[in-house]
Amino acid sequence: MCFHVGIPFSPYCSVRSIYITIPTIGLFFTGVPGSMAVTWTTFNKTESKVEYGLLGGRLFEMSAKGGTTLFVDSGEEKRELYIHRVTLTGLKPAATYVYHCGSDEGWSDVFLFTALNDSTSFSPRFALYGDLGNENPQSLARLQKETQLGMYDVILHIGDFAYDMDEDNARIGDEFMRQIQSIAAYVPYMTCPGNHEATYNFSNYRNRFSMPGQTESLWYSWNLGSAHIISISTEVYFYLEFGLDLLFKQYEWLTKDLEEANKPENRAVRPWIITMGHRPMYCSDDDQDDCTKFDSYVSPGLEDLFYRYGVDLELWAHEHTYERLWPVYGDKVYNGSKDQPYVNPKAPVHIITGSAGCRERTDRFNPNPKDWSAFRSTDYGYTRMQLVNATHLYLEQVSDDQYGKVIDSIWVIRSLFYHSI
Ligand SMILES: [Fe+2]
Repeated sequence: MCFHVGIPFSPYCSVRSIYITIPTIGLFFTGVPGSMAVTWTTFNKTESKVEYGLLGGRLFEMSAKGGTTLFVDSGEEKRELYIHRVTLTGLKPAATYVYHCGSDEGWSDVFLFTALNDSTSFSPRFALYGDLGNENPQSLARLQKETQLGMYDVILHIGDFAYDMDEDNARIGDEFMRQIQSIAAYVPYMTCPGNHEATYNFSNYRNRFSMPGQTESLWYSWNLGSAHIISISTEVYFYLEFGLDLLFKQYEWLTKDLEEANKPENRAVRPWIITMGHRPMYCSDDDQDDCTKFDSYVSPGLEDLFYRYGVDLELWAHEHTYERLWPVYGDKVYNGSKDQPYVNPKAPVHIITGSAGCRERTDRFNPNPKDWSAFRSTDYGYTRMQLVNATHLYLEQVSDDQYGKVIDSIWVIRSLFYHSI
């Protein structure tokens, strides 16, 4: 038995031959309905094949081929990893498929996933968190079990992986991917980069994940149910040595993407606009980090844009705590009304959820938070979100310290045709 707490997959559990190891498998939604990207790594060059079939049908009835890219880590050993990407297309919405991946030289274990439902009336269930590491990944066991129980359709990992993927010549990255395989091989694992991915110009992040679009997973958007979901890199504001042009390119893309999503005909179909990015604009932690000061680079860069286009919900991490904010813009609270702050809020709602668990432990809070801070917790945990329909969105915070207790929950409600500005 190779499962044990914290490190669910020893490096040798999935070995099918002495020469080929298949250390990690991840599913990523391509953004195109009826499709799914399967990504995995081997230590030598092989074909990239996925064999799959409908659950209950003939096993491995279908197969798809993809491509391999060589990722040479920039550490001293210059380790070579082959990253395989295969896109499955023509999947039936909401149907469950059984699959394995590899090649005739070695196959992975068998996994299953459910194709995302592409209907706008679909009510997807998410788990979301940031800052999950190899050491002290406290929430991982609960997330593994809940994923395998079918509680989630999608996972959002809001930056900071492994601590850090490049360490030990990227073996920490391999180990981390093995750890999350027990989640990411079953449901799409959608990501954005955090500061812990910065080494060698985010190369481990850019190579190991497969998000929609052509930016090597740095920024992208996709639709699910009644939401348009935008993922950004806050790190373009901090690592200018990797190119100031990235900051401008992302901003230009983001403006166009928001403009498009906000067109009346699009907003009528997908009224929710949700963003995710690693470093928050606001927080009330006491670690003197960037968001503890209002002049964090992220706020002047993005706050006006998000407000102007009526973003409903902004998901952040980076601070190793959970914090829910009242609707806020320009450091001021804009509640929907005194009694119902989250009914037709007049500014975006912010959630900071970076307490999944890592070697840096949790952070502490400033004892005197500003008016916009609504609820705070230093417990390890993660957030659940359900996009119930075009008007109702539910969020709750799970405390792993309290054995899965829900310690905070809200409904965000927006009337159809309501626009916050
Ligand atoms: Fe961070």
